[in-house]
Amino acid sequence: MKRSFIREILESIDNETISFAGGLPDENLFPIQDLQKAANKVFENPKNLQYTISNGIMPLREKIANFYNKEGFLTKPENILVTTGSQQGLFIIAKYFQNKQIVIEEPSYLGAVNIFKMNNLDMQPIYLDHNGIDTQKFDEIYKHVKLAYLIPDFQNPKGSLYSDKNRENVANSVLKHGGYIIEDAPYSELYFDQKSRSISSFVPDNSFHLGSFSKTLSPSLRIGWIRTNEEIIKQLTMIKETIDLHSCGISQYILDIYLDDNSRYENHLDKLRKAYKEKMEIFTSTLKQELPEFDFAMPKGGMFVYGSLKGFDTMELVRECIKEKVVFVPGGQFFLDGRASDEIRFNYTYSTKEQVVCGLKKIANKISIKEIR
Ligand SMILES: Cc1ncc(COP(=O)(O)O)c(C=O)c1O
Repeated sequence: MKRSFIREILESIDNETISFAGGLPDENLFPIQDLQKAANKVFENPKNLQYTISNGIMPLREKIANFYNKEGFLTKPENILVTTGSQQGLFIIAKYFQNKQIVIEEPSYLGAVNIFKMNNLDMQPIYLDHNGIDTQKFDEIYKHVKLAYLIPDFQNPKGSLYSDKNRENVANSVLKHGGYIIEDAPYSELYFDQKSRSISSFVPDNSFHLGSFSKTLSPSLRIGWIRTNEEIIKQLTMIKETIDLHSCGISQYILDIYLDDNSRYENHLDKLRKAYKEKMEIFTSTLKQELPEFDFAMPKGGMFVYGSLKGFDTMELVRECIKEKVVFVPGGQFFLDGRASDEIRFNYTYSTKEQVVCGLKKIANKISIKEIR
């Protein structure tokens, strides 16, 4: 199994390196004061530092359930399992389905691919376009496999957003063949225009909908969740208990207090969407100026811009760029065979405008040395 290139990069780069590599939120947008106030309250009560229950504290599960209820996707706290980031949610689900077959998008999130490998899931890739997948092809594979891992909203790495028709078609396949989908949705709230309906809401009992506070509040809290049917939640909770007994109680209490005022979170999300849209516009306009040969689709939300640089092996290119203290993720990393590829995933949320201009100029410089432009 290969280690995640991204995690290796994050470990090896120094403070001077401009990073377009990780899926990192902008630290200046963390609601530090509000989280600090909530944390102060948490530390007033020693009980909050005690062991807590495995499936997550009830008031937080109620609030998470209400996120769904507000959208008309009926959900009870019993449908929610709080997890240590959605990464753990993926691990728990993979353990539950171990040794089975699973359809995955290609390219896909390497963190999930590694989990599937570790749990001996046989991955059946389906090509992902900027608007989703070919749902007819999906149906042909899914009818045998009956399990799929999809990231319909602003996919990692590709930034793709499934069309409404795509969502309905996938849901119809699930209903027709009686299988399950794992819908990973850490970027769903980071839309620039409007929120899309989740596939899970069409098939509430045959889906695992994964959410996370990592991209909207702070990844360091390490709190995510799984929404699925009550019976499966009980079995997943048993798996979770073998891993960590429960997710960090302190983080859960902080979130619960922070979310007491619902408009506070809503306002924060609005601010985030506006700020990230602006950052995306800065990044893509700088790309057009500095790297006109980079062919990409405009993101509609999320954290990534994905595209191709014809004629370049981007793995080779990134090694050169690291020496110049700028880094991105070569697209080949997101394919099962780790193929040589001319594709690149850039993160646009983390860096400042100055870093974007400086970093992209450095990459452009490396390209011009290799090729007369
Ligand atoms: C698609 C996807 N799923 C899951 C995760 C893990 O997120 P968390 O911090 O909630 O564990 C990530 C993180 O980048 C991601 O991109």
